Amino acid sequence: MAPRNHKNWLRGPKVEYISSECYNNYSIYEQEIEQIFAKVWVPMCHTSEMCNDGDFRSTQIAHQNVVALNMKGDIQVFLCPSIDRPSGNGFDTDGLKKLHSEVKHGGMVWTTLDPNPSHSVEEWTCGAFDCIADAIDTEEMEVFHYHKAIIDTNYKLWHDTNSEFYHDFMHYFNRVSGFNDEYFARKNIPFDNGHVNVSTFTVNYEEYEGFEDRGELSFPNLPPNQWYMVDLFPGFNFNLRGNAYRSDTVTPLGPNRVLIEFRGYGLKKDTPEERNTRVKAHNSIWGPFGRNLHEDLIGVAGQGTTMREGTEARNILHGRHENSTIHDEVGMRHYYEAWGKFLGVSPMNPLAMLQENLYAAE
Ligand SMILES: [Fe+2]
Repeated sequence: MAPRNHKNWLRGPKVEYISSECYNNYSIYEQEIEQIFAKVWVPMCHTSEMCNDGDFRSTQIAHQNVVALNMKGDIQVFLCPSIDRPSGNGFDTDGLKKLHSEVKHGGMVWTTLDPNPSHSVEEWTCGAFDCIADAIDTEEMEVFHYHKAIIDTNYKLWHDTNSEFYHDFMHYFNRVSGFNDEYFARKNIPFDNGHVNVSTFTVNYEEYEGFEDRGELSFPNLPPNQWYMVDLFPGFNFNLRGNAYRSDTVTPLGPNRVLIEFRGYGLKKDTPEERNTRVKAHNSIWGPFGRNLHEDLIGVAGQGTTMREGTEARNILHGRHENSTIHDEVGMRHYYEAWGKFLGVSPMNPLAMLQENLYAAE
């Protein structure tokens, strides 16, 4: 790639850098809640967590309590003024407002606060799940692991860490098992609405001491030891890695605080032995004593600390152009272009645009 001079830099794609104000400004956070999280489809839970008639699961979307309920096998989602349990059986829906919902993409329960959604889930996700559809939709899946974490960071920094891969140098496990020519050729593929795929390659698990090849139990219709990522706008991640599948759902709690729900999945038809193998594979990377997930959380908490409210504004470069390969920042640029459109601001100078919007409203 030819070096960019000043003229070329100015001419470049729209979001070559973003302001740290996107991560720590309270009015931007409030706008995100109203204009993004209250509008989009949110993957709130999984059908396997509510198998029986009357089972329910609750969460919060854009500060609203939301309950998904199994009504004789049909999943319905309701707005709920108060609820004191994350899950259970038996929930009175009298007088509650029903929300739009769908079960889609591997049995996830999707809902939106938007009373008149302009898209179906399929239209909203825009093909971002196509790469793993045969693997997650052929056999019924089952959640075998759930935990949540409240992290002092902005939710977008969590999504960023699932979207940029140069931080892989931080992951000892990934350095050992993954850094080969195929890894560096992986592509970031943008889809409409700010979604991104990170394409697959073959992970050499046996290179890591104590790990075994994960080919035998890979998901249906998936070649052995592959690793696909679906980064869904505005902060949901689906991670299919050999014989383990994980989803992350974010609930922003403030500019510098996010609740992340992590789920690990196997196939419902797994034998106890197969399930043990999947749980072990899941835990070795993402479980309580795994390496990878915690390194990510430490990383984003560090970023949150350096950019917390009141710190000096600075620009964060997203200017790596490497033919869309693994360390190219095309996924981040694509995300922040969609983000800016949702809020009607420039990610490079979001407060200036907010100010203009305020004047325009007067
Ligand atoms: Fe990571």
